[in-house]
Amino acid sequence: MNQFLSTLVFATAALVVTPGIAQPAAASPAGSQQSGPVGVAAPAPSGSASQAAAGAIRSQNIFDVQPDASTEPGYRDQTNGERAKVQPGNNAPMWRQVSGGITGYSSLPASQAPEAGNLIQGFVDYPFMRETNAGEAWRQVRNRWILPYGAALLGIVVLALALFFLAKGPLGHTHPESERKFERFTPFERAAHWSNAFAFVALATSGLVMAFGKFFLLPVLGLSLAGWLAYALKYVHNFMGPLFAVSLAIIVLTFVKDNIANRADFHWLMKLGGLLGDAQVPSHRFNAGEKGLFWWGITIPGIFVVGSGLVLDKLIPGVGELRGQMQIAHMLHASLALWMVALLIGHIYMGTIGMRGAYRAMKTGYVPEGWALEHHKLWADDIRAGRIPAQRSGDGAPAPERPAAPLQA
Ligand code: HEM
Repeated sequence: MNQFLSTLVFATAALVVTPGIAQPAAASPAGSQQSGPVGVAAPAPSGSASQAAAGAIRSQNIFDVQPDASTEPGYRDQTNGERAKVQPGNNAPMWRQVSGGITGYSSLPASQAPEAGNLIQGFVDYPFMRETNAGEAWRQVRNRWILPYGAALLGIVVLALALFFLAKGPLGHTHPESERKFERFTPFERAAHWSNAFAFVALATSGLVMAFGKFFLLPVLGLSLAGWLAYALKYVHNFMGPLFAVSLAIIVLTFVKDNIANRADFHWLMKLGGLLGDAQVPSHRFNAGEKGLFWWGITIPGIFVVGSGLVLDKLIPGVGELRGQMQIAHMLHASLALWMVALLIGHIYMGTIGMRGAYRAMKTGYVPEGWALEHHKLWADDIRAGRIPAQRSGDGAPAPERPAAPLQA
């Protein structure tokens, strides 16, 4: 029923908006002699019924359609009006124009409905794809590229981390809590980090359900429950976006200073961070791996994901009114968001089970001196030499189990 109604609405709308296209045969005066190159005569309705029907939309009797009209010269180039004369009821020329992306007349003001005269968008030619209507091209990019390759990327990351964990276990050593402590993250930094992490996990979960839920939740939960879940998570996604945007801006500004590349990072990269050997390569507060993630996994994609998300939420004035803008925003948003999720799975792994003592640093804000020396030797050296304070936050900060003692010679 729904399908029938939408077909009806679509067909009626097409007739209203399509330009330069003659009305279909049914709109031609009832009973008029329809003479085309082949001299087709439409049946003449008679009597008062025909007068009542005059001007009304009437369907065409298929048996009156001239079957061999398609042999006419120039048949393919006929307008809808010309076609109606030789094959009343055949509106193929009109639909050809509609599917060709033509923009027709609409009485709706362009300021309020800029695409009202256009039922089907024009053609686009995306790389690696055949040229087709923008709507269909977007659908194909989503279903044939973003979703399958995004899912494959996430699967590969999870599998690689599982194999890495099985092969190497957690990195680093355990350090006695009795050692003196260095403050690694201030309460402000931790609050910003955890707000951002909370928003990101909510966005990632809801986004993944919206993208892949029909494959893995629908068969288990059934249509109603999976539908309601996706509906609820869409709201979670829409409202978490702004929290993520604000907390992302804060963590980028907070950590940018210590994520600028330097010579030690080059050395770290040349040795692949010591991941293949046993010894850690010396680094400043953050190593090259963390810096790479900061720029290529968080900051740069984050700006585009947030920007395109705000477009999809229609929160940026003047953008997002056109279907083409929404399609581009969606493709950018979905592909970069999946990229971020893939890299942040690696970050979450390292921040929890992948490295001893890392999670504690972000939980309490403090690390034992031995941990600092093992994982970020240049940073620890700077603290020991007094170039960086061991305690950066002021009053109100939770006291470390054992406050950092002044440097002993
Ligand atoms: C949800 C789970 C998460 C956990 C368990 C987690 C854990 C951690 C830990 C333990 C650290 C400290 C690493 C160190 O001491 O060197 C850290 C640092 C950091 N995290 Fe997370 N994190 C999570 C999510 C996120 C998210 C979603 C983002 C951003 C989108 C993020 C951005 C950062 C940044 C920027 C740093 C500082 C390191 C740097 O700037 O290179 N984290 N995280």
